[in-house]
Amino acid sequence: VQIITTIKEMQQRISLLKQEGKSIGFVPTMGFLHEGHLTLIKHAREKSDIVVMSIFVNPLQFGPNEDFDQYPRDIERDERLAGSAGVDVLFYPNVDEMYKNEMTFHVTVKDKVDVLCGSKRPGHFDGVATVLIKLFNIVTPSYAFFGMKDAQQVAVVTSLVEQFNFPIEIIRIPTVREEDGLAKSSRNVYLTEDERKEAVAIYRSLQLAKELISNGERNPAMIQERMSDYIHSNTKAEIDYVEIYTFPDLKPLSSLTGLVLIAVAVRFTKVRLIDNMTIEI
Ligand code: PAF
Repeated sequence: VQIITTIKEMQQRISLLKQEGKSIGFVPTMGFLHEGHLTLIKHAREKSDIVVMSIFVNPLQFGPNEDFDQYPRDIERDERLAGSAGVDVLFYPNVDEMYKNEMTFHVTVKDKVDVLCGSKRPGHFDGVATVLIKLFNIVTPSYAFFGMKDAQQVAVVTSLVEQFNFPIEIIRIPTVREEDGLAKSSRNVYLTEDERKEAVAIYRSLQLAKELISNGERNPAMIQERMSDYIHSNTKAEIDYVEIYTFPDLKPLSSLTGLVLIAVAVRFTKVRLIDNMTIEI
């Protein structure tokens, strides 16, 4: 795997690849790679001639009291994993390189952000949109791969690409899970041993929702209540939200129909975890 740390060199590399007629698949990440990322790479590998992965912990998308400094990092391990998973070019800029000059523009995401993580993390999706505009302009991929674990991010990025006319196809990849069902996340390392055991309740609450729906339940409030009860009874975690919306528009609905997103966020002592499920009704 070739590591590139400057924007200029990245752009030169891309321009050469384009001259050779290569299609580019892009996997944007914040590093500390796990199987979820490796699955994104696998799909990118299958669909494109060249796979570019970025690793950049983007300060703009972290709130003042969030885990920017504590966000886990291990570039050597990432480099090895990325290389053996089939990444051709690893774009690894530092914060100065990405935000060399103070930003005098502010991207504000206006739709789809007053719910779920958006409402709990003000400015988060503005930061995600800003860095993705930059990365999309630098890498100019044909395809960009996103995990459905961050379903709201997928919804926002879908609008971003449509509204700013990026000629990029956004490919949604299902969440990868541990054996017991816990969604893979770079942040799982911050669970205590007991919390790790309890954390399976997040996935099970989603399974419970699925079961209620297949038994005919269509009232979102009822499902949310049963899920919250389940999490309360099986963990010491604090529930941040249990919410149900249409996907990808993220609108509330009084009776479940169509493609719906059921999403959960909970706080353990040192870490906040999210998970979700989309289900066609
Ligand atoms: O999902 C992530 O890891 C980040 O939000 C992304 C898309 C790399 C933007 O910083």
